[in-house]
Amino acid sequence: MSADLEVAMKGKKSEEWGPNKLRSYDCERKADKKVSSNGGDEDQDKQRLTAATPSTSRTRAATIIFTLKNEVGGLIKALKLFQEKHVHLVHIESRKSRRRDSDFEIFINCDSEHEQLKELTELLRTHTDIVEITPFDNSSLLDDSLDDVPWFPKKISDLDLCADRVLMYGSELDADHPGFKDQIYRKRRKYFADLALKFKHGNPIPRIDYTAEEVRTWAVVFRELNKLYPSHACKEYLKNLPLLTKYCKYSENNIPQLEDVSRFLMERSGFSIRPVAGYLSPRDFLAGLAFRVFHCTQYVRHSSEPLYTPEPDTCHELLGHVPLLAEPSFAQFSHELGLASLGASDEDVQKLATCYFFTVEFGLCKQDGGLRAYGAGLLSSASELKHALSGKASILPFDPEVTCSQECMITTFQDAYFVAESFEEAKNKMREFAKTLKRPFTVNYNPYTQSVDVLRDTSNINNMVKDIRHELDIVEDALRRLGKLQRD
Ligand SMILES: [Fe+2]
Repeated sequence: MSADLEVAMKGKKSEEWGPNKLRSYDCERKADKKVSSNGGDEDQDKQRLTAATPSTSRTRAATIIFTLKNEVGGLIKALKLFQEKHVHLVHIESRKSRRRDSDFEIFINCDSEHEQLKELTELLRTHTDIVEITPFDNSSLLDDSLDDVPWFPKKISDLDLCADRVLMYGSELDADHPGFKDQIYRKRRKYFADLALKFKHGNPIPRIDYTAEEVRTWAVVFRELNKLYPSHACKEYLKNLPLLTKYCKYSENNIPQLEDVSRFLMERSGFSIRPVAGYLSPRDFLAGLAFRVFHCTQYVRHSSEPLYTPEPDTCHELLGHVPLLAEPSFAQFSHELGLASLGASDEDVQKLATCYFFTVEFGLCKQDGGLRAYGAGLLSSASELKHALSGKASILPFDPEVTCSQECMITTFQDAYFVAESFEEAKNKMREFAKTLKRPFTVNYNPYTQSVDVLRDTSNINNMVKDIRHELDIVEDALRRLGKLQRD
């Protein structure tokens, strides 16, 4: 995945950069707290009104989101329906709509038997506008109907189930690792691994008190790469890097904290970071992207070779990945790549991982009549960055059908780099490619619940159609107002 600087000079690169071992670092979505019972969030007008019984074997947990009609006592009337139908409220809050800016919505978790829930929703429709009804514990429900596909996380907290499935981590370094014989470094690596393994969705990312030696190592990397960025990095990278300096304390003498970076990303693109102990499988790593979660390492490479690392470290994550993840169009591209991987076959996951490798890690794009880098493996490796844009490297147009078969070079520079006209173009091509993958269903990400809906029945699809209709209404209204303004 990311390559590091003097990799080619040394004639080696870590195997782990390849698509068979995608690095993860991920973090938790703060927004998820908005629907949990753990403390408040200043962005939401949250009011917890009740807390009641857990599900029994006969009941099923569900989430209902609705908006109130413009009438006095509307909420009371709606809540009375729950009482009448003996549906237990587990959690209720009001919150500003993510889809309808001017609206507030009522979000309810409840326990109910199927028939009761059905009757309740029919009655609710007379007093409210129901935005959504979903099984809250949708993992178990979906698993029942998806026996024929590989397991995948259905909601963001399910990533906790994947996070400890690391392939290699901590102090278990290869014999050719620069820190292999350094017991102090290995102990430090174990410290970082333990922190990541303890991490759960909803936790703040632990802040690290980096040592002077670690900061010196970071400073070397930071200095070398910043010499190249103005002439080699894409404009989106160059736009976002100063923002990271301003909001996340990026500087030569300070290693930014993942928690600060994660909060920043959430505001910019809806992505967040999760710390990871080691290499995740491509399937688990890509699954994180589906929930807009990026798995990140927190440790620093060994100080003896600051311009080389055999594995992704926090310098790679912070300098290579983060500035682009702050870009909404790139974030969307990454997100859709992740969604395409959920429940896909091993063969298709491998194809997607290879596309990831040649875009997110080693991608180039056309800008202002020339080539610029947007891949994190390039943007964190001075030597390969220079090579890729030297005019001597083989450059091919990004085409997922072709790119997915390209060999990922592990111990040398890539044989070829793939260039996209724009992130938008890359996203559209990946969308078309994803349609060709053998998967008996498609999925839709639900930003309210930070979960994925498997679109296998008309109910889910109907809900989507309603959302699309509403969004088209907004577009129509905006155009109407714009036209009126222009006429005036
Ligand atoms: Fe990477």
